[in-house]
Amino acid sequence: MSTPQKIIIDCDPGLDDAIALLLAFGSPELDILGITVAAGNVGLERTVINTRQLVDLAGVAVPIHPGCPAPLFRRLETAAHIHGDSGLKGAEHLPPPRAPVSDEHAVPALIRHLRAAAPGQIILACTGPLTNLAAALIQAPDIVTGIARVVVMGGAVAQGNATPAAEFNFLTDPHAAEIVCRSGAPLEIIPLDLTWQAEASPARLGPLRGVDTEVARTVLSMIAAYGRKGRHINSDGPPLHDPCVIGHILWPDLMQGQRGGVSVDVLPGPNEGRLTADWWSVAKPPLPQALVLTEIDADGFFARLCDRLLRYK
Ligand code: RIB
Ligand code: CA
Repeated sequence: MSTPQKIIIDCDPGLDDAIALLLAFGSPELDILGITVAAGNVGLERTVINTRQLVDLAGVAVPIHPGCPAPLFRRLETAAHIHGDSGLKGAEHLPPPRAPVSDEHAVPALIRHLRAAAPGQIILACTGPLTNLAAALIQAPDIVTGIARVVVMGGAVAQGNATPAAEFNFLTDPHAAEIVCRSGAPLEIIPLDLTWQAEASPARLGPLRGVDTEVARTVLSMIAAYGRKGRHINSDGPPLHDPCVIGHILWPDLMQGQRGGVSVDVLPGPNEGRLTADWWSVAKPPLPQALVLTEIDADGFFARLCDRLLRYK
């Protein structure tokens, strides 16, 4: 096995963040330097508790750094109506958290790791609003040097889920998303256009059914609680947005997209938080470039996801 890839995961657990973390914790290809926690799906107090419970569930030891409790400018509007007041509905059976919380805030932790890194050494996997990373980039723009790639679940080129124009993460903190787009860091965006395809259907979850492990039971219980069907016609399960970030890092053969200019609309109004993808480079001045992933082999992804989750004993 090649040398594990150094990675920092920034997240706002959240049901799909939870499955993304369990996938990452169960993947020896990744050397997880830390988890930086954002406010988003629910408030920061809960996203930190949820992160601790997931670290306990996975039986790993990973530094947990609480981050910014609110977006840079906007007021925090959570997605508790989807993820439950706790942020982990369906996981109420998990015991109170024991994993320690670092006394180092997410922003200085990001700066410390990235300044200590060799050029292009660390992957940033971001599955929530980008407030922590944006704050770090504002405070220390030089940290871009240490970033290998920023892989972000966010945005929607076509149809939003928070508004017709905007996806939840980018609407929650559009200023942070635009700062990350303009940072010069190598950026790979996984928008709803791809993640809607990653629906957790009964057939795709079949390998987990009846498996007597805490992880399998908890994942199935959270997905059942998630309950939502996708918005696509004939949807037969909720879309697992955030695991696609870890999946893309682990298995790049499963997802495809194209490079284009990107920007996020920060102006109040119907387009606030909208991701613009300039496939034909017509924007003037030109927009910063990113790889925007739009296609996934969803059956292949779920087969590999379940295989990883089944490794937990
Ligand atoms: O729009 C989906 C994204 O918003 C996911 O990251 C989900 O966890 C929520 O944060
Ligand atoms: Ca999330």
